[in-house]
Amino acid sequence: MMPKVTIVGAGHVGATAASLLLMKDSADVVLVDIAENIAKGKALDLMQMRSNERFKSTICGSGDYADTAQSDIVVITAGVPRRPGMTREDLIGVNAAILQNVLTSALPASPDALYLIVTNPLDIMVNLAFELSGLPASRLMGMGGVLDSARFVHAIAQATEAEPQSIEAMVIGAHGQGMVPLVSRATVKGQPLANILVNPQEQIAAIVQATVDGGAAVVELLQTGSAFYAPASSIVVMIEALLDCRSDPLSVCARLEGEYGIDGVFLCVPTRLGPHGVEQIVEFDLAPNELGQLQRSAQAVKEQLDKCRLTLSL
Ligand code: LAC
Repeated sequence: MMPKVTIVGAGHVGATAASLLLMKDSADVVLVDIAENIAKGKALDLMQMRSNERFKSTICGSGDYADTAQSDIVVITAGVPRRPGMTREDLIGVNAAILQNVLTSALPASPDALYLIVTNPLDIMVNLAFELSGLPASRLMGMGGVLDSARFVHAIAQATEAEPQSIEAMVIGAHGQGMVPLVSRATVKGQPLANILVNPQEQIAAIVQATVDGGAAVVELLQTGSAFYAPASSIVVMIEALLDCRSDPLSVCARLEGEYGIDGVFLCVPTRLGPHGVEQIVEFDLAPNELGQLQRSAQAVKEQLDKCRLTLSL
């Protein structure tokens, strides 16, 4: 039987993720939005594509969580996106309220599902979702690191003219300014990145900057919203890993309990995903500066979360 995936939020990210899942025949999709007709309209549009693209998966649009019952995976993309000049953190108040409403409706319908949070600011939202939902940590995760890693690979590909497929590179840490591109582990055709660059120091600094600014660069160009193709594709990579048990680790916003010397916070780290959700946090041997950056990133998320709890009186 086809897995059932609910996507909450029929905006650009949610609808694009839905279309990718359908085209790959990975799951039947329920697309939910408070703007019910937008969800229904996009679902109908996608169903009308079936004969051309020859997929078997189905999608239905809805404003009613009864239609999401017994989902295997619930993806939450609902929330307002960034506009030019905004950081992801500027979205906390409004998106936290949306997240709370969504969880209140989605959890009773799919109490056994895996929950994948996409709403920004990502790290804060995943940590809040943990407190609001009572879900076990293994069934709750966030999408940020897969996207940042894809942007890191793109920046390396641009700088080296190598095919993205020949590049291994991961970004961990918060999905924001505190992200940690793992330069020490990045390889191109199996060679350490630093070895194949002409001016390693300068070029690596530029690659890292392009990675950190990857999302903002799209916001600046679009002016009316933020990126959605690469975010949607990153959601699908995670869903496929959850369904197929990929063995290579992905950078997933998962709860740390002592790993990397960090405790009691969700942050993007190398993680194996499978049918039970977060199956293992993988502890890479990091360069000391990268470990330090990761720990500072964790501290910053914790501090922001404390501030956020005060403002939201949680
Ligand atoms: C981005 C948003 C989705 O990085 O966080 O583009």
